[in-house]
Amino acid sequence: DVPKGSWVRGSLKSVEGVPLLEQIVDNWDKVANFQAQPDDLLIATYPKAGTTWIQEIVDLIYNDGDVEKAKRAPTHVRMPFLEMVPPPPLRSGVENASKMPSPRLIKTHLPFQLVPKSFWEHNCKVVVYVARNAKDIVVSYYHFDWMNLAQPEPGPWEGYICKFMECQLGWGSWYDHVRRFWEEKDKHRILYLFFEDMKEDPKREILKVMKFLDKELPEEVVDKIVHHTSFQVMKDNPMANYSSIPDTIFDWKASTFMRKGEVGDWKNYFTVAQNEVFDEDYKMKMLGTSLKFRSKI
Ligand code: A3P
Repeated sequence: DVPKGSWVRGSLKSVEGVPLLEQIVDNWDKVANFQAQPDDLLIATYPKAGTTWIQEIVDLIYNDGDVEKAKRAPTHVRMPFLEMVPPPPLRSGVENASKMPSPRLIKTHLPFQLVPKSFWEHNCKVVVYVARNAKDIVVSYYHFDWMNLAQPEPGPWEGYICKFMECQLGWGSWYDHVRRFWEEKDKHRILYLFFEDMKEDPKREILKVMKFLDKELPEEVVDKIVHHTSFQVMKDNPMANYSSIPDTIFDWKASTFMRKGEVGDWKNYFTVAQNEVFDEDYKMKMLGTSLKFRSKI
């Protein structure tokens, strides 16, 4: 059982039918008009797909595996969260990004159609997309929503699964999100990765990212990156585990950010009946796509 937070919770509004936190929607113009630069790298994911993990990997690749450099600041300071608008005096993702030197690493959870047009205007913009199977996303998001007081309160588990299936959670439909980036990946410079593949063979996936970024590093450096970005090492790294976020925003009693990092934890939460309903609905929503997920490895 996850205890309830007692702070005022965020609420959702929508942009083009996609539910987003109210403060994001209220400042939407700045996101829509964001000016990308040719050497920007966008890390795009649906929430809870392994964003922080790939951010750490990419930052280390950019810094030639220099672990100390990667500890220069917490994840959210190193890489602005494009659409996020935190309470003042903290600056928005757009402001932080505009103050950053090139080459910029920028995080977003926006679905393809809401990514600022500027990113697609030049073919040189590159995107690393990470997708994770839907059932583990629901479980991870559920715990995160108990913990992250900026998010609407998740309510009971049963209802939370329904909200996911009805695409009512923040950043909207997981189904559309993963499908659209999949369809677009060959039309733009998008590297499409899977959380499950990263768990299965992190070195193989890190080498894919390096190739995509035209980066070569000696094998021992690659091994160092594999080690530094393992679940346990990141869990203990205050610059990669979000522990700098105060408990007025992240209720650390409700959950921890680096929670389990596994494939298949959904089996501990979905009842047989919930799983059947979810699978039935999933088949319809994912009809006609060649995109396939593994919910166990
Ligand atoms: P769980 O809640 O299932 O543990 P995001 O960064 O997109 O919010 O995703 C967070 C999820 O990724 C959490 O999943 C977290 O534990 C997992 N994660 C983060 N770093 C990881 C790593 N190095 N290895 C495996 N999982 C990781």
